[in-house]
Amino acid sequence: MSKPGNYEAVRKDIVKLLHQPEYDDGSAGPVLVRLAWHSAGTYDAETDTGGSNGAGMRYEREGGDPANAGLQHARVFLEPVKAAHPWITYADLWTLAGCVAVREMGGPEIRWLPGRTDYVDDSKLPPRGRLPDGSKAADHVRAVFYRMGFNDQEIVALCGAHNLGRCHSDRSGFDGPWVNNPTRFSNQYFRLLAGLEWKLVTLPNGVKQWVYEDEDGISERLMMLPTDIALRDDPVFCEWVDSYAEDKELFFEDFAKAFAKLMELGIRRDARGG
Ligand code: HEM
Repeated sequence: MSKPGNYEAVRKDIVKLLHQPEYDDGSAGPVLVRLAWHSAGTYDAETDTGGSNGAGMRYEREGGDPANAGLQHARVFLEPVKAAHPWITYADLWTLAGCVAVREMGGPEIRWLPGRTDYVDDSKLPPRGRLPDGSKAADHVRAVFYRMGFNDQEIVALCGAHNLGRCHSDRSGFDGPWVNNPTRFSNQYFRLLAGLEWKLVTLPNGVKQWVYEDEDGISERLMMLPTDIALRDDPVFCEWVDSYAEDKELFFEDFAKAFAKLMELGIRRDARGG
């Protein structure tokens, strides 16, 4: 067991578990990033409810939200780290793991602070349905992220995380990765979103998503959600899609800031950081 407060030791153990040859594209990284985001993304600024405090996904009420399907894999990956460092809260562990995963997959360093509690405050519990629905349009995306306190630029930067990982038909119903190398953090998602010709298809399960077909019309490997395409087609969002497609450094900087802000939603610390 490490000394309480030794977050460097926790970081190192998170790095060690990222390589998972039997899982998805060989990395636990993408699903850890999604766990961090979904733990925080229930926040509502007006009522100051939701957010990563409480690690509510441990319980059926939040963990069983269909929007969180598949995230049990991320929580199981992290159990040995929690066992080796029992002093860290789940809320801190999940958010830290997301930040470490981004960095280890080649992304920016994200400023992360400890201090989240696992105490479940019933008056802060978020109702289900606060996370975004990939089948919807720009007005839905704005409603969800404005509720957390983000602006249009931050929304586009955050959605650049879809450079990582994939959709699973048995989790969300959507299927496939957004980019060819889904375990490498880059601005490729924006370049493909802006640069390729996307075609709307209906999958055998009835779910509609956008796919890219090469000249032979056979490659349906790469995909975009309707909400991703909404970023390309909205007059304000699209300016940021183009900026991030052209300037990887700008994307990395803006992503790091927006993700750090996401991890802090609803978290308050006293002067000593407690
Ligand atoms: C995966 C929706 C924003 C990170 C997914 C999936 C959906 C989705 C449907 C596939 C889940 C599955 O089948 O396993 C959305 C929508 C968003 C949004 C509708 C906003 C409009 C974000 C943000 C982040 C993020 C802000 C992080 C900053 C990820 C990652 C994955 C993912 C890393 C891959 C997970 C894996 O490989 O298991 N998202 N997302 N998403 N999302 Fe998002």
